[in-house]
Amino acid sequence: MRAGIIIIIIFLTLCLISGQVLCFKVIGCSGGSVMFKCMYKSDEQHNSTPLNQRESNDQLKGKYFCRNRNRDCKPGISTELQRRWVNNERFALYDDENSRFFTVFIRNLSREDDGRYTCGNNQKWSRDVELKVNNNSSSCGTSVIRSAYKGQTITFSCKYEHKFKTHTKVFYRVNGDPVLVLNSSQSSQSSEEKFILSDGQKDHFTVTIRDISEAERGVYLCGVERDRADKPPSEKSNTHITFIKEIELKVHGQITSVQVEAYISKSVFITCEFPEEFKENKKFIQKDSSKEIYVEQNQWIHYDRVHVFDDTSAGVLKVFISDLTAAEEGTYRCGVNTADDHLLMRIRLKISQVGDHFRESVAVIGESVKLSCNSPEKQQLIKHICKENEEKICQSISSSEKQRFEFSDSTAGVYTASISNVSLRDAGVYWCGAETRHEHLTSVSLTNKHQLTLTMPPVIGREGDSVEIKCSYDENYSTEVKYLCKGKCFTKDAQNIIRSDEDHDKNPKISVKDDTELNLFTVNTTELRAEDAGKYWCAVRDVFNLPLELMIIMKDAVIHEASVGGSASISCKHIRKQTQKLFSRGDQPSICIRDGARVSSNKRINGRFSLTEETSAGVFTVKISDLRAEDSGKYWCAEESSGSFIFTEVQLHLTRDSFCQRL
Ligand SMILES: *[C@@H]1O[C@H](CO)[C@@H](O)[C@H](O)[C@H]1NC(C)=O
Ligand SMILES: *[C@@H]1O[C@H](CO)[C@@H](O)[C@H](O)[C@H]1NC(C)=O
Ligand SMILES: *[C@@H]1O[C@H](CO)[C@@H](O)[C@H](O)[C@H]1NC(C)=O
Ligand SMILES: *[C@@H]1O[C@H](CO)[C@@H](O)[C@H](O)[C@H]1NC(C)=O
Ligand SMILES: *[C@@H]1O[C@H](CO)[C@@H](O)[C@H](O)[C@H]1NC(C)=O
Ligand SMILES: *[C@@H]1O[C@H](CO)[C@@H](O)[C@H](O)[C@H]1NC(C)=O
Ligand SMILES: *[C@@H]1O[C@H](CO)[C@@H](O)[C@H](O)[C@H]1NC(C)=O
Repeated sequence: MRAGIIIIIIFLTLCLISGQVLCFKVIGCSGGSVMFKCMYKSDEQHNSTPLNQRESNDQLKGKYFCRNRNRDCKPGISTELQRRWVNNERFALYDDENSRFFTVFIRNLSREDDGRYTCGNNQKWSRDVELKVNNNSSSCGTSVIRSAYKGQTITFSCKYEHKFKTHTKVFYRVNGDPVLVLNSSQSSQSSEEKFILSDGQKDHFTVTIRDISEAERGVYLCGVERDRADKPPSEKSNTHITFIKEIELKVHGQITSVQVEAYISKSVFITCEFPEEFKENKKFIQKDSSKEIYVEQNQWIHYDRVHVFDDTSAGVLKVFISDLTAAEEGTYRCGVNTADDHLLMRIRLKISQVGDHFRESVAVIGESVKLSCNSPEKQQLIKHICKENEEKICQSISSSEKQRFEFSDSTAGVYTASISNVSLRDAGVYWCGAETRHEHLTSVSLTNKHQLTLTMPPVIGREGDSVEIKCSYDENYSTEVKYLCKGKCFTKDAQNIIRSDEDHDKNPKISVKDDTELNLFTVNTTELRAEDAGKYWCAVRDVFNLPLELMIIMKDAVIHEASVGGSASISCKHIRKQTQKLFSRGDQPSICIRDGARVSSNKRINGRFSLTEETSAGVFTVKISDLRAEDSGKYWCAEESSGSFIFTEVQLHLTRDSFCQRL
């Protein structure tokens, strides 16, 4: 306080020493702005400085306001233009030749701006200006960002020191130029108007903007009109405006209420996106007229079937509603608390019936797998696949993984999602569904559930030959006993348990090797028989590797001759009962595994191909009619049971019949 008084005394002294030099004081807030008039006809008792009495400075042209006038006159601004604002960084100047003053506007004040300035008209007159920048006022220099949606009404609050109670309050807009929007001494403020200033409260006034549109986007300033003695300005006093607060208003597209359709017993994933500046603000979710539930940040919070996650880094509120029933239908609101209000998004959730789609799929490591999905909507929506996490929340696939996922086009309401180069981490539960995007909200209604299990690539051996089954294990287990078993190890169903520590001399069919350097346990089985086909598991203690299928190709191939134009009936033996029979064409038997069958027990007729089973005789027959020369080649008969295949090679030789030879 004392320092202040001393400063004021020094200031007054400076103003007086200069005799005829006029001097006035302008007070600003650090972080705020000021606007004042530089008068060239004095309202005070002094006369203006005579022409040519002051030193000239060639750098100054026309009207100017600056610091260090006699040196570089910086920082500051000057102009020879009239009736328009000119800007130089934080300074702006407006000269109206018809008036007896020009206006100076300075934004974003800081303590460094504190000091003496000069304003004037070069060569003609000048006045000294003492700029005081306060940093100690509790209501000084706050700058805020506010967001509003089109059509919304928003209210700003501006705090001022109590001593300004009876002063005029002003509200400006800076859109390049500072423009007065309204002030508290303006009388007409009907409730129909867009801007309403209300100054009835204690130590603050409010400005309400109604029915916000794109045009209201921008920066606003609120402040008080004052004179140097902080008395309410009068006709005579040299006034200025101290802007206390700067408000940046952002305008966002309107949030209409959004309808989301989801399905009974399935789930829906909704993402509500809020404006950037509310990332850290408290979010909430509300159903119908129940109480708002405020959400913890950056963790999943569970309320019965509703799971909520406030992702502060992305600025979104994720809502996952699982195991939907008709009771979940209703209106949900996701919202965020703002400084003195909140923003809401309204979601009308409609629950419909859709078929029950659950599939278990087996994928081979390193290969690709296709998951089929239904799209109940007629229009083409954005296809989506997600994977359940430990909390059974279906999260979208990370962008780095996404390149392995691909969707087919939908035909007849069905599309496939394929995952390529399947690896261990892909095992789990997947859901597919359709994604709908609105301006601030994305929803994914899930339709199909897939349980994906993994297996190692199959090992294919020929009857009578040998195969090696390789089991890699964790290096921690190098000294432990390893097992290879058919069926499931350590259960009653387990068969043919082969141990790494056993003496296999008695069984010359099998040899084992445990390479503890490579952490690889290898079993070589010779004299393969059809019965060896099946699922094998490698295990150490009670830790199982992925299973692998040993598939057998029968030693004897079927050689069949037929003539072009005629038909062929190919008879294939099968060993096991209750298996699926398949018939495929290709160089390798694996064509049968990869959906390549021409005919099968599931699809007995396919064009010229048909399949009949005579189970009691242990054979099935494939008939190919209307034979063509190009039908010659290699085919495979296969029998399959739970993924376990036994193949028989078929060679079809076509000869020209006598009729053709005669031609
Ligand atoms: C703020 O500081 C000024 C001087 O910089 C002083 O005159 C004034 O009394 C101070 N106000 C308060 C409330 O401390
Ligand atoms: C205001 O000035 C300060 C330095 O005093 C600067 O750091 C800040 O970026 C400026 N703000 C604006 C909005 O120009
Ligand atoms: C303004 O005051 C605050 C504390 O009241 C202080 O932290 C800050 O450094 C001051 N700024 C200046 C420019 O003096
Ligand atoms: C308030 O607004 C009226 C009408 O626009 C204007 O005449 C008056 O000068 C303004 N007062 C201040 C302090 O800006
Ligand atoms: C398949 O994935 C493995 C890792 O899981 C990677 O090392 C390999 O390069 C991938 N292959 C292809 C063809 O992308
Ligand atoms: C398995 O062992 C037999 C006899 O020791 C050997 O002839 C054969 O090459 C081995 N098989 C493989 C695939 O290594
Ligand atoms: C192997 O041992 C290390 C160190 O004891 C341990 O961190 C790791 O989890 C173990 N790996 C397995 C698969 O048990």
